[in-house]
Amino acid sequence: MDVKELLGLVAERSSAYLESLDRRGVTPAAAALARLAELDQPLSAGPTSPEMVLALLDELGSPATVASAGGRHFGSSASGSLPAALAANWLAGAWDQPADMVAASPIGAKVEEVAGRWLLDVLALPPAAGVGFVTGATMAHFAGLAAARHALLRRLGWDVEAAGLFGAPEIQVIAGEEVDESVLKALSLLGLGRERLIRMPVDGQGRMRAEALPELSAATIVCLQAGHASTGAFDPAPAICAAARRAGAWVHVDGAFGLWAAAAPACAHLVVGFAEADSWAVAAHHWLNVPYDSGLVICREEAHLRAAMSFSAAYLTLGEQREPGLYTPEMSRRARGVEVWAALLSLGRSGLAGLIERCCRHAAHLAGDLAAAGYPILNEVVLNRVLVSVGDVETTRRVIAALREEGTCWCDDVLWQGRAALRLSVSSWATTEADVERSLAAILRAAAKYNSKSSNNRELTA
Ligand SMILES: Cc1ncc(COP(=O)(O)O)c(C=O)c1O
Repeated sequence: MDVKELLGLVAERSSAYLESLDRRGVTPAAAALARLAELDQPLSAGPTSPEMVLALLDELGSPATVASAGGRHFGSSASGSLPAALAANWLAGAWDQPADMVAASPIGAKVEEVAGRWLLDVLALPPAAGVGFVTGATMAHFAGLAAARHALLRRLGWDVEAAGLFGAPEIQVIAGEEVDESVLKALSLLGLGRERLIRMPVDGQGRMRAEALPELSAATIVCLQAGHASTGAFDPAPAICAAARRAGAWVHVDGAFGLWAAAAPACAHLVVGFAEADSWAVAAHHWLNVPYDSGLVICREEAHLRAAMSFSAAYLTLGEQREPGLYTPEMSRRARGVEVWAALLSLGRSGLAGLIERCCRHAAHLAGDLAAAGYPILNEVVLNRVLVSVGDVETTRRVIAALREEGTCWCDDVLWQGRAALRLSVSSWATTEADVERSLAAILRAAAKYNSKSSNNRELTA
C-alpha cells in the first residue's frame, strides 16, 4: 500500500470514528479497555506494514478512547477539534516542519505571526504584545512567569538567565486562595516555589478579594484568574492591575479558557481590566477547539518574553523576521500555529463569538434544568461552567460512577469550598441542544438513583 492509499484509509477510519461518537458512550466499555492488553507485545523482530499498524491502532485504540472529541464531554479541558483545525493538523503532520525558525519553516513562522496578530485582536490585548505558541496553559504560565521573573530581576540589577536564582533578590508571588494547580506547577518549575506564594482570601465564587491585597512592590508578581476552573469567575482585575501598576509589580493572568470571553460581545464585560496585565496564559485546545496540545503565552513587552526564552544563537541562522523559537521554551517543535490560524480563519469573528456564546447558553440551560429539578447550583453561571450539588461526597462519587458506567456524558467531580459537586464545562463546537437534553436526562437519572424521590425541590446537603 502506498502513502496515498494509507492516507485515504486513515481519513476513512478517522471519519468513521468521529461519526460513531454520537452512538457510543463517552467512556470506553470495559471490554474495549480489556483489549488494550493486546498491545502488550514484545517489539517484533521485523517490520509491520503501515496499514496493519493503523488497523491495530484503530481497532484496539478507538474503542478505548474517552470520547472527548464528541458533544457530550463536559470535562474541564475537553473541547474537540473544529473540522478545519483537524484538517490543518493533518496537513501540518504531512509537512513535518520544525517550526522554531523562519529558515526551517517559512510557513510555520508565517501562520504564527498572522494568527498571533488575530489573537491579540479577538482577545482585546495590546496589539504590540509578543505571542508564543506553547503546549497548553501550564507551559504558557511557565513562559509568562519566566518573562515576569526576568523583567523584575533585571530592574533589580540581576540577570537571572545567566546567574540563576541563587543569591538573587527575592521575588514575592501573590495569588488567590483558589489559584489553579497549573500556576503552582509553573512556579515550582521556575524555582519560585509552589509554597512560597502569598495566598489571598477569596469570595464564594473563588474571586480574590481586592481589598485584602497586601502591599505590592517592584519585586511582586500577582497572578490573576480570568475564569476560575470550577466557577468560571473572574478576579477583580481593574483594582488589582491599578495597584500593581502603581507599585511597579507584574500581573500574570491565568486565562486558560476565560480570556476567550473577550471574543464574544455577550461575555466581553467579564474581561474588563484584564488587558492591563503584563502577561497572559491562554489554552487554544480548550475553547478555540484545536487539537491538543496548544496554548498561548502573551507578553505585553515582547522583549521580556524573548529575553526569558533566549538561547545562544551561535549555531543557528536567525533572520530579520519574528523567529518562533525565541518565544517558547522548546527548540524543535511542530508548527503549532497552523491549527490556531485554521480555527480562527474558519470561524471568523462571528463564528468565534457564536461558539463562545452558544457554549454559555448550553451551560445556562444545564444549570436552569438542574436547579428546577431541585439540585442546587453552587456557582453563578457567568460563563461555561456549572457546579451542581447532587449530594454529599459519597453520593457524588456514586453519581459520577453511575454516569461513567452509563456513558451518556462526562462530568468532573470536584470539591468546591468544602462541598462535593459535579462540574460541567461546555466548550465544544460539537455540542448540540440534543446533546444537552440527553445529558440532562442522564444526570437527573443518576442523581435520582442516589437521592430519594422526596428529595426533589429541596436543598441537598453537601
Ligand atoms: C483555569 C485553568 N488554568 C489552567 C489550566 C491548565 O491548562 P492546560 O491543561 O492547558 O495546561 C486549566 C485546565 O483546565 C484551567 O481550567
